[in-house]
Amino acid sequence: MESPKTGLLILALLAVVTVAGGIFGWTIRQQGAAQQNTVALPVGGPSTDYLRATYDPIHFKPAIESATDAQCLACHREVIEDRVRETSPAGIKASTSKAWYQQLTTYAGEQETFHRRHLVTPLARELMNLRCITCHQGHDPRDEAPATSATAAPQSDKSFTLRKQVNVETTCLKCHGQMPFRNMGLPASWPESKEMFGNSCLTCHATIRTNRHRVNYLKAAAIEAAGARNADNCYGCHGGRAWYRISYPYPRHAWEGMGPEIPDWARERPGESEARFLLPAATQK
Ligand code: HEC
Ligand code: HEC
Ligand code: HEC
Ligand code: HEC
Ligand code: HEC
Repeated sequence: MESPKTGLLILALLAVVTVAGGIFGWTIRQQGAAQQNTVALPVGGPSTDYLRATYDPIHFKPAIESATDAQCLACHREVIEDRVRETSPAGIKASTSKAWYQQLTTYAGEQETFHRRHLVTPLARELMNLRCITCHQGHDPRDEAPATSATAAPQSDKSFTLRKQVNVETTCLKCHGQMPFRNMGLPASWPESKEMFGNSCLTCHATIRTNRHRVNYLKAAAIEAAGARNADNCYGCHGGRAWYRISYPYPRHAWEGMGPEIPDWARERPGESEARFLLPAATQK
């Protein structure tokens, strides 16, 4: 009674061992090939396998500092190509659920993903020149925290903050902070006071803080033209889509006709944009 069962069991075991052995050997061969590939490929080359792609040097400093969008998109096409659902699983139509930040007169088109709204929508293309590395400066795929080991990004590295893949204070806050209307001496917030100033920022900004937007992720001339057409273009990046309760501490570039006195709120302000965004000297006039 026992022996046929035992025989079957042994057969089954043998089969398992044979199959496993085959897979194991195959895996090792694949890994060997992958390893050779990793050495031979340029940074950001086609992914060899999932794990190696996750830890591809292009995700980290220094390689990421000079990465092009095309290099990132070779693996991350989903960032540009994925679209939002037309209808949520609960049956809500995307086209009928507009959020508060989608009420500005500049809002156009269908609902779009976060990445598409910054890289490919008509407004994004008109006013901005954002690249992957404007926001992504290297991250930690393992525990998403700086300084957790000797090989991790050190605490002094401000490329990303805890549990995030970017540093929101040095990226998002620039365009999604509150409008600092008190610094401007406006009597009330922009929606409450704009009629007083002809609903145009340029009523004042044609002569105040005129040296602006000369950074590689903005299209300075196009922004001025858009702001002259419609103040919501300016307000959109300076309070109209504020995810924060604070404002970005903008650099205070000297401008023609600037007075000698420095207001209290401006004492700690740098006189220049962040170094990594500076335009080459030739285009900086
Ligand atoms: C060789 C292919 C490849 C290239 C090139 C590549 N990535 Fe990735 N990336 C991956 C893979 C694989 C993952 C892991 C995906 C996952 O776990 O969901 C990943 C993850 C990420 C993540 C999420 C990390 C996390 O902690 O969850 C970000 C952000 C990212 N990549 C940005 C970039 C940027 C920016 C570039 C260009 C500088 C880039 N990637 C280039 C393959 C690549
Ligand atoms: C305006 C800033 C910004 C730009 C520009 C940007 N990203 Fe992101 N990206 C983010 C943020 C914020 C997240 C979410 C991070 C988190 O969850 O901590 C993200 C997440 C990701 C992820 C993780 C997967 C996901 O969808 O959550 C990938 C991959 C990624 N970005 C790739 C790219 C690539 C490739 C480009 C250039 C084509 C790019 N990003 C441009 C800010 C940006
Ligand atoms: C250089 C300016 C700039 C930066 C930096 C920036 N944004 Fe935006 N953001 C915009 C503009 C402009 C729009 C409106 C785009 C449109 O209407 O097509 C927008 C729209 C959005 C929207 C609304 C999308 C929608 O469907 O209406 C979200 C959410 C958002 N940004 C989040 C972020 C986050 C998070 C970051 C930082 C990782 C960030 N933004 C960085 C300029 C910026
Ligand atoms: C009544 C005149 C007036 C109007 C209207 C006005 N501003 Fe200002 N703005 C100022 C003054 C004054 C300053 C501070 C100048 C200085 O640095 O001494 C300022 C500063 C700023 C700053 C820099 C703030 C900082 O903390 O460094 C931004 C950004 C700005 N304005 C954007 C706008 C936008 C966008 C609009 C329209 C939605 C607008 N302003 C409308 C007068 C005005
Ligand atoms: C696409 C987003 C965007 C739009 C649109 C925009 N700004 Fe800005 N603005 C920024 C960012 C980002 C900075 C900080 C750039 C830097 O770090 O030098 C800035 C800086 C400024 C400053 C500070 C100037 C200084 O001393 O450096 C003023 C003033 C200002 N913007 C006014 C305006 C006005 C007026 C308009 C409309 C004509 C406008 N902005 C439209 C994103 C925007």
